[in-house]
Amino acid sequence: MSSSTPRPAHGAGSNWDTPEAVERIVQAYATADVIAIRQAQIDLLGPIDGATIVDVGSGPGIYARDLALRGARVTAVDSAPAMRAGAVAEAQAAGVTIDVADGEANALPFPAAMFDAATLVQVIEYVPDAVGALREIARVLKPGGALLVCDTDWATASWGIGDAALAERVKQAWCATKEHFDAGRRIPEWLLGAGYEVVAWDPRVLANADATGDTFHGHTWKTYRRLLERLGTVSVEDLDRFDRLCAETTAAGTFTFTVTRHAWLARTPGGTT
Ligand SMILES: C[S@@+](CC[C@H](N)C(=O)[O-])C[C@H]1O[C@@H](n2cnc3c(N)ncnc32)[C@H](O)[C@@H]1O
Repeated sequence: MSSSTPRPAHGAGSNWDTPEAVERIVQAYATADVIAIRQAQIDLLGPIDGATIVDVGSGPGIYARDLALRGARVTAVDSAPAMRAGAVAEAQAAGVTIDVADGEANALPFPAAMFDAATLVQVIEYVPDAVGALREIARVLKPGGALLVCDTDWATASWGIGDAALAERVKQAWCATKEHFDAGRRIPEWLLGAGYEVVAWDPRVLANADATGDTFHGHTWKTYRRLLERLGTVSVEDLDRFDRLCAETTAAGTFTFTVTRHAWLARTPGGTT
């Protein structure tokens, strides 16, 4: 692909389709802050031993792996080849078997009513037709099937770095990169629009006191910075200052980063539970 050809938003050749993107997610998802949120979100599904579950937009299959470790029969779907390869590797390393399929959230490669449950984690913020994707997932779920949708409300992101105006500029620029920066808070509206019954809500604050170490922020900020720098929406001087303040406040013990992650459990109509 020439450097002037725009990358697709997802799938082969997209920013998701690189070993670096796979590694970034694997590392961020292995931090204690993110593990705690993931386990609480999966708990919403209740017992899943033997259940058939499709993980849509699986990325490198961290949720798929953890669902399989709880006894579910998991199919991981992602449109990016590198992510699918990552999902195979994660499952193998954990000693579980999952199916992996190429697929798009708005056009899943499965017949109707195939799965007991579905998960859609940190994906809907990127999907232009959010309600359409939820309807497509409903199609492949059995009547009364469960859907766990998790996503971030990036408008809630806040950095305690001693310069509130700079933190706000970075937040606004980051939100502007998203199809739906406020996906987390819009999930119930989208679920109802797609015909689901909303069952449970579990909002959690992802909180880091270390900007640069083994935390969600430590593993993701460099990538976020590169994107903002490439787009030119925050000046290099501001990004350098932001980095400096993150390091200084971490060293001083005053750094904070918080953002709200929402998890919603819903069901398709017609079940007995
Ligand atoms: C932030 S990652 C989340 C991965 C995983 N669900 C998790 O939480 O670890 C977003 C993933 O969604 C995939 N993706 C984005 N848009 C998609 C679409 N329309 N259909 C299928 N996958 C998509 C990307 O390839 C990427 O793997």
